[in-house]
Amino acid sequence: MKAIDSFIHERLNQRQSTGTSRQLSMNDALIDFSSNDYLGFARSAELKICFESALKKYPDYKLGSTGSRLLAGNDWFTENLEKQIAAFHLAESALIFNSGYDANLGLLSSLPQRGDTIITDELVHASIIDGARLSHAHRYTFKHNDLNSLEQKLKRAQGTTMSDRSQTTVKNFAHGSFMADRKTNYTREKIYIAVESIYSMDGDEAPLKEICNLAEQYHAALLVDEAHATGVFGTQGRGLVEKEGLTNRVFARTITFGKALGTHGAAILGSNVLRSYLINFARSFIYSTAASFCSHLATEAAYQFLIQHDHQLAINQRIHYFKEAIYATSRLIESRSPIQILLIPGNREAKNAEQGLKHAGFDVRAVLSPTVKAGSERLRICLHNHNSFEEIKNLASTINQYL
Ligand SMILES: Cc1ncc(COP(=O)(O)O)c(C=O)c1O
Repeated sequence: MKAIDSFIHERLNQRQSTGTSRQLSMNDALIDFSSNDYLGFARSAELKICFESALKKYPDYKLGSTGSRLLAGNDWFTENLEKQIAAFHLAESALIFNSGYDANLGLLSSLPQRGDTIITDELVHASIIDGARLSHAHRYTFKHNDLNSLEQKLKRAQGTTMSDRSQTTVKNFAHGSFMADRKTNYTREKIYIAVESIYSMDGDEAPLKEICNLAEQYHAALLVDEAHATGVFGTQGRGLVEKEGLTNRVFARTITFGKALGTHGAAILGSNVLRSYLINFARSFIYSTAASFCSHLATEAAYQFLIQHDHQLAINQRIHYFKEAIYATSRLIESRSPIQILLIPGNREAKNAEQGLKHAGFDVRAVLSPTVKAGSERLRICLHNHNSFEEIKNLASTINQYL
């Protein structure tokens, strides 16, 4: 026990000494420039009224789902919601997971097999990295949004899968058997590319069309995480993949409800056969209690609300207004999304800037290394439809004074 205690203290002390210790905090009194509630849905009085009046139609609803989807946790409402979500996003099917983390973990850990290769942008979310780790596939990363780097990795992946295949053949001959090795008996090894359409820590966009072209050229399946694009980009918020006209060229999309939609949960969009596969093999789906009825009802209400009003216009006006108001534009990473990044190199410098803005009444979070590369520490400013132009102007002028 002593050894464990001292290990825990040592790790925590390391964090303290490098100024990277994580703390839970509550900043309700500050003006929100940090949440993912880009469209203000989580706090929308109108949406809450829609949700509450919808709830009255189901007096017998259960508080909890009472089981995983494969056991007692499935019902017609969830399946119908999945159909609505699939139709909205122009996908053949949707499968709901309890969170975006679970969705990516389930997809990446179950689909690629040993011998396959997963190539990810170096900035993808931890849930993609963790899923890929669990898969036992080969893993490569390419430089952020760099198509040459991606192509190099695709070439290397082709080489790896070829050599795996020849080793498998040798192994099978060596065992006097023509049967494929268990690890590689799913026809040929496959290549997966995983990217985000809008990057959570940079707010910038992936060059999706070019990535699609490369994926097709190298026979790779493209997985796109649309967590930060859902609700914000595309027709009525269908996402960046739809905006770029790529819905039929992307193998699977992850959409999350916990950001612009203001609720909680996620879905994988793809073919019917992919949905069946995930129901059979995605452990984060199989072995977890399904989300509650209220959670699904809130998500359904959020989708209806998304369709009823033009939320994109309001958020785009705010993004434009903020970018115009900042003087140190060279510190801003190019972004058309509500995530605006102001580079303030150095952990101490970025943390001081965060503190300065807190004192001025703004909830803005610094992102420090090692979460981002040393030298690229930053303030991550999230803009929302519930931010007034006055608040945005005041934030920008405080930043302008500070820098
Ligand atoms: C790109 C991306 N994917 C997935 C997730 C995880 O989604 P959730 O918060 O629903 O678990 C996040 C959350 O921050 C994210 O930024």
